[in-house]
Amino acid sequence: MSVYVVEGGRRLSGEVRLQGSKNSALPILAATLLCRGECVLYNCPQLSDVEASLMILRYIGCTARREGDTLIVDTSGADRCDIPPELMHRMRSSIIFLGAMIARFDRARMTFPGGCELGPRPIDLHLSALRTMGVEIGEEHGELDCSVTESLRGAHIVLPLPSVGATENIMIAAARARGTTIITNAAREPEICDLADFLNACGADVRGAGESTVVIEGVDRLHPAAHAIIPDRIVAATLMSAAAVTGSTIRFQNIVPAHLGAVLPVFRDSGCEIERHGDSLAVSAPARLKAPRLVRTAPYPGFPTDAQAPLMSMAAVADGMTVFVENMFLSRYGHVGELCRLGANIRVEGKVAVVDGVRRLLSARVRACDLRGAAALVVAALNAKGTSMIEGVEYLERGYESFELVLSALGADMKKI
Ligand code: EPZ
Repeated sequence: MSVYVVEGGRRLSGEVRLQGSKNSALPILAATLLCRGECVLYNCPQLSDVEASLMILRYIGCTARREGDTLIVDTSGADRCDIPPELMHRMRSSIIFLGAMIARFDRARMTFPGGCELGPRPIDLHLSALRTMGVEIGEEHGELDCSVTESLRGAHIVLPLPSVGATENIMIAAARARGTTIITNAAREPEICDLADFLNACGADVRGAGESTVVIEGVDRLHPAAHAIIPDRIVAATLMSAAAVTGSTIRFQNIVPAHLGAVLPVFRDSGCEIERHGDSLAVSAPARLKAPRLVRTAPYPGFPTDAQAPLMSMAAVADGMTVFVENMFLSRYGHVGELCRLGANIRVEGKVAVVDGVRRLLSARVRACDLRGAAALVVAALNAKGTSMIEGVEYLERGYESFELVLSALGADMKKI
């Protein structure tokens, strides 16, 4: 079992090149199945969730090789339309293979997906949308047996809530369906746009990604393409929080500020200065942060639920009180108890967490129980007086590439043992 050992209190400085976005890479890897050939993905992060996608692709009969940040996936040999339970359980995103397999083989057999425990995470919207598109889905003993008897057809799908995964599954299936698919109340996240850009580079016809209505005109054939994955906005928010809690300045070389539209104001409200120089952006934190007061998670372009935990570590050492309202998941405060162990003053009631900032956190041995919670504990430990040990490295490694090396290069005293 690995743990992170962090000696808090070091100032950070320097430049960061952001890894590619996990939440873009995963659906794009599933979508390569539609292409029957060699796709090249630049800026593809090395993460355990990406490895889990590659295990699925290899099981299906594809090949994949890595050259640094570039991943080359050849899907021409794909000849299986099932995914074994042990691969499905590794992550939630394995469900995106459902739309991709149906589009390629007219058939898919798999179990319900796993993933971080953030409360109930149903897939009813994915299934009902695919049913509307002509997919017959049998659900028995936790298994999904899906087939298309006539043809996969375009449909008008109205999502009751803008689910990221459901939007992705529909877009991928619709790219090869007969006719037009219209998604009303689609998710608008940058990762949706990235998936649309990849599909369009492969010859699909997806319009409106990033808006609430996405229109997909099905095409007969997609071809392989090369695509650069967008920088990871949640890693950016996490590193900004790290800069904030250590009173530091760090510069991002390849950030897309528009992707952080709801996040940057929280840092500004906390007294951080944010400066843009051409394509780069620098964050400079004051000696004492101010409490950002209110952080409410919401679908994009609202404040991202994935940044809630790391920013809570920042609020934990800010002057004043901050109220967090978690609107996306029922149980996404798993980090709170551990932050309190590090000396934070946080009370939770339902979806509200009230953080009363302290001057400085104190070191402790803590245990992460999900990906972003793990990142929050690292951020907190960077502030804490003394040496902290963080268990649950495997959660963090689902989404952060060589995090201890990235932070050490910025001057943090952090190692994985
Ligand atoms: C994506 O998960 C992300 N994962 C999550 O990132 C992120 O927290 C989430 O979107 C919200 O932004 C990936 O992109 C791989 P949803 P997803 O479907 O697609 C409910 C991280 O830390 N819902 O938009 O699973 C659901 O229960 C993670 O990187 C249904 O009720 O999110 C939740 O309350 C974890 N029925 C809400 O919608 C459904 O069929 C949003 O879920 C689908 C979703």
